[in-house]
Amino acid sequence: MKRSARITIHPEALQHNLKRARECAPNSKVFSVIKANAYGHNSVATAGTLYPNTDAFAVSCVPEAVVLREGSIDLPIKILQGHQNNDDLNIAADLNLRLMVHEERQLTLLDQYSNKGKKNHRFDITLKVDSGMHRLGFQPDRIHDLYTKLKNHPHVNPDNLMLATHFSSADEPDKETTLDQVKTFNKACEGINAPKSLCNSAGVLVWKDAHADWVRPGIMLYGSSPFSDKDKDSDSFDLQAAMTFEAPVISVHTLKKGDCIGYSATWQCPKDMQVAVIACGYADGYPRHAASGTPVWINGKTTELLGRVAMDMIVVNADDHKENPIKVGDWAELWGKNLSVDSIAEKAETIPYEILCNAGNLRQA
Ligand SMILES: Cc1ncc(COP(=O)(O)O)c(C=O)c1O
Repeated sequence: MKRSARITIHPEALQHNLKRARECAPNSKVFSVIKANAYGHNSVATAGTLYPNTDAFAVSCVPEAVVLREGSIDLPIKILQGHQNNDDLNIAADLNLRLMVHEERQLTLLDQYSNKGKKNHRFDITLKVDSGMHRLGFQPDRIHDLYTKLKNHPHVNPDNLMLATHFSSADEPDKETTLDQVKTFNKACEGINAPKSLCNSAGVLVWKDAHADWVRPGIMLYGSSPFSDKDKDSDSFDLQAAMTFEAPVISVHTLKKGDCIGYSATWQCPKDMQVAVIACGYADGYPRHAASGTPVWINGKTTELLGRVAMDMIVVNADDHKENPIKVGDWAELWGKNLSVDSIAEKAETIPYEILCNAGNLRQA
């Protein structure tokens, strides 16, 4: 989509953040999670940037992995949702993809697998344990039997069979939930000698005892903190923003005390004041629910959003920029190197994941 707003991706920040993940989990291998087009950062470009320093990649579904293979990415790729049908199995065999198995139907598909070209293919499988998130995975009491079945399955590579689970609340370190999940997972896997994987970014950053053989960082690679607490922000973990989102100023003018700004007139000027209009709105992926007061970085300092976010425009306070006045043609940073996307997410009552995916993927469509 061609628009005035622009996105810049910072490869050196992606590399730095991966290094941080490695420093936090020095004894684990890393699946860099680059699903949803690398959270809006472009999956092929991101994979190319992380390539020398990651052990493997993880995406949601087979089509996402096809894009990576077409982009000449040849490291192992794990499909977090596994295969959905026989076509997925055929593609996974051809492209050598690793599959997650989390439900009965996927086992049946494996049992029935037949591919003329690769009829003896053995898949690299990860068995998913539902340790308490209750989204995907088999119940803990089935894991031993299923592991044995897969270990002896004619279409499973017994040397690369793994076990994994996913945390529901790792971003809430004060809750017992994660410890309970770790205990449940460890009990389900007791006595099974296979590589194990539990941790997303929050796990990498604070649940050190759960790092195990492989970690799966996602959001931290893009420079954002998975936590909402202020003492666990991206700076505190030394993460760098991998995306900068900017848009130009298209008007600067003075409003009178009492004038209201934007749709539904939700913000009223408390005095005569200068405002600037920036060519960026929810059509560009700027969150529509960002409230008045959301920070915007322009000409070396922070100002604030005034009134509602429209499809193509936002209005900001230009009154406090006396030393470096805002002019038409200046570029505002909506988030990036100077302004954490986490602070925008908080003001929009959402999470940085959603903002990065929306803006990044819209801008590249
Ligand atoms: C199974 C799995 N592992 C790891 C991740 C990465 O999570 P995060 O981006 O919070 O690090 C995700 C993302 O949702 C996931 O679904």
